Amino acid sequence: LDRAFSPQRLKGKRVLLSAGPTREAIDAARFLSNPSSGRMGYALAAAARQLGAEVTLVSGPTALATPYGVTRVDVVSAAQMHREVMARAASVDVAMMVAAVADWRPAHPSDKKVPKSQMAATLELERNPDILADLGERYGHGRQGDGDERRPLVVGFAAESHDVIERARSKCARKGAHAIVANRIGGPTSTFGAESATVHLLAGEDEPQTFSGTKTEVARALWEALAGHLQR
Ligand code: CTP
Ligand code: CA
Repeated sequence: LDRAFSPQRLKGKRVLLSAGPTREAIDAARFLSNPSSGRMGYALAAAARQLGAEVTLVSGPTALATPYGVTRVDVVSAAQMHREVMARAASVDVAMMVAAVADWRPAHPSDKKVPKSQMAATLELERNPDILADLGERYGHGRQGDGDERRPLVVGFAAESHDVIERARSKCARKGAHAIVANRIGGPTSTFGAESATVHLLAGEDEPQTFSGTKTEVARALWEALAGHLQR
């Protein structure tokens, strides 16, 4: 019923999302990761589809079912997520990066399980590619007027524990995104793994728009707000 009556605000639009955590292998039995459940990204995928979009979800490992009508591409590591997102970005209208991508990966992962007696107490790490920053560089707000090449709206998320709005705003500018959704992690209103969320949409110099509710409600509100930026 909900679907039958909802306005098709994203009809004809193609949406690419990243969601969930990534896992960075240490060896065959160990990895580095983070507490992301994937719920926010999956809720955004479901909501976009309900609003009429054609949705592809590039997902790290989660315990969630694929939302109805959504094409899901499973990945494990940040490097795989980077590859799958970049391969699809040129043919979508919006690329929204909701994944909690591991910033670092072990520099020397082992295919075999390494006995703990043979492991060093420190782990050498190297930086993962920044998917949102690469999208921003190619298609972001510094790239207006590049002819008639298809150019997705680039939207990021920012998980911050403090100075949420200011840090998110500078992250948006630094990565060249058109918009960023800021949310607080840690403390009593943490969004990580939770059922509900409070988020702030920051687009250009506009005043932040704040949305609170279940992740499903927040997802729908975010698309309603972003739909206005898509009439291009
Ligand atoms: N992101 C990404 N690739 C990465 C890291 C982050 O695409 N390697 C994206 C996330 O999906 C999110 C945004 O960048 O949309 C911000 O992620 P966040 O972890 O808050 O930003 P970082 O630049 O990694 O900064 P921090 O040092 O605060 O973790
Ligand atoms: Ca990070």
